[in-house]
Amino acid sequence: ERLWLIVPAAGRGRRMGAELPKQYLALAGRPVLAHTLSRLHQAFPEACLCLCLDPGDAHFDAGWVPFDQWRRSPGGVERADSVRQALAALAGEARDDDLVLVHDVARPCVTVADLHQLLAVLREDSAGGLLASPVADTMKRDDGYERVSQTEPRRGLWHAQTPQGFRYGLLCRALHEAVASGLEVTDEASAVEALGLKPRLVPGRRDNIKITHPEDLALAEHILAAQQG
Ligand code: C5P
Repeated sequence: ERLWLIVPAAGRGRRMGAELPKQYLALAGRPVLAHTLSRLHQAFPEACLCLCLDPGDAHFDAGWVPFDQWRRSPGGVERADSVRQALAALAGEARDDDLVLVHDVARPCVTVADLHQLLAVLREDSAGGLLASPVADTMKRDDGYERVSQTEPRRGLWHAQTPQGFRYGLLCRALHEAVASGLEVTDEASAVEALGLKPRLVPGRRDNIKITHPEDLALAEHILAAQQG
């Protein structure tokens, strides 16, 4: 049984407001993408990587990829389209019951321990699962005009992180049906949930942050230094 890693890295990262897409911004002297791929490689050196890149990407350097087995696939309009293209690129080689982990390029602080823990759970669970952390803040819903319309009960709410992992056949079917039915898919789990399955929430470290806003880079740098210390 093979392990496949899909890393969507075709986003433009507009919320960062930077010239370079966020996966190429420097973090402790190396691009975010290089950090993310090294963490994945430390955990799963034998895995086969599929990296989703914008076809017009002029910044990518293959020297940042530590995997022996890897390929690139073109990014799509939305994240889910990028992941579907990657799944299509594996067709013919991946078997339906092979495990596929999808991990945001923008989460360089994921730890080897959490990656191993997730994989151990996924091997035992046919519905798949994801790293996640319980919500600590009180959650408010707005009325559309920056006023509170409701306080959401916090108990039972989690932040969905990545990786998210599923069997290849299940993930292909879930994303195909989600797109066909016009569902807004911001993560893989939501597509699988729409099939009526309940993916496992695997408690992960809260410092597996997604670099989204400019201040997140300094935070990620601090997290990486603290993890290494
Ligand atoms: O924009 P956001 O932070 O939600 O993107 C999550 C991940 O999906 C990032 O790793 C980004 O590069 C990737 N992405 C992609 N193709 C898109 C949009 C986002 O691969 N069309």
